[in-house]
Amino acid sequence: MLLVETPAAALAAARRLPRPLGFVPTMGALHAGHMSLVERAVRENASVAASIFVNPLQFGQGEDFARYPRDFETDSALLRAAGVALLYAPTPAAMYPAGFATSIDPGPAALDFEGASRPGHFAGVATVVTKLLHIVEPTRLYLGQKDAQQLAVLRTVVRDLDLPVEIVGVPTLRDVDGLALSSRNVYLDARQRAAAPSLHRALQAVAQAISGGESDVGRALEAGRPVIEPPLELEYLAVVDPLTFLPLERAAPGALVVGTVRAGATRLLDNEPVLARVEAVR
Ligand code: PAF
Repeated sequence: MLLVETPAAALAAARRLPRPLGFVPTMGALHAGHMSLVERAVRENASVAASIFVNPLQFGQGEDFARYPRDFETDSALLRAAGVALLYAPTPAAMYPAGFATSIDPGPAALDFEGASRPGHFAGVATVVTKLLHIVEPTRLYLGQKDAQQLAVLRTVVRDLDLPVEIVGVPTLRDVDGLALSSRNVYLDARQRAAAPSLHRALQAVAQAISGGESDVGRALEAGRPVIEPPLELEYLAVVDPLTFLPLERAAPGALVVGTVRAGATRLLDNEPVLARVEAVR
């Protein structure tokens, strides 16, 4: 695995890689969820590039940029062992040199939910991922479905800016108790960790209510709210169109249930698709 730290070196190295080229952008602190993206990229492409960059632009004031978990040696060993050919790990100065001034406004998909809770977050994500795509020029971009709004925002950016890349959304990996894997799970204390899977159960309860025929979102959400266990505090629970991320008042299979809870200073987010009800075969 070749390690490069500047845009010019990354561009030159990526252009030498066999195509199709899969690309997995990360902020490091890799867990099995990230590795499922890498493994899928390795299966589907002739070569794979990854990046590790804790992107200051996507953290708001008072968020966890400084304490975000960082373990470059372990991360790069995992990527090498998984078959990644090129790792781009720029410094903040290489990514954002003095005078850097451009920002990508991702539009309405970025306004609600995480966009409202974290002003500027999706502009930061859209800006860094657009830069990475220009530097790596991949055939396919691999993103986790856990960050469903990020996925919707980046699909919009890629479409609107005519970026020549196919986006592959990879299903969320969960612990045995249902908690979605996240680099931020390491922040949870024992009580928060024990309650954390109740977020996914709440999302499932809403999705099942809609699959079972409840089209009124207000009523469907009532099935989920009581499921959240203390000390978790519900921030939002909603049903959205997975492509536009606009909230729905009436829902049907194909919609996405999204939710975020606070566990102390840590925010946990997750989502659950509303599936069509499979009628029993008589
Ligand atoms: O999902 C993430 O880890 C980040 O938002 C990403 C896509 C690597 C951009 O910094």
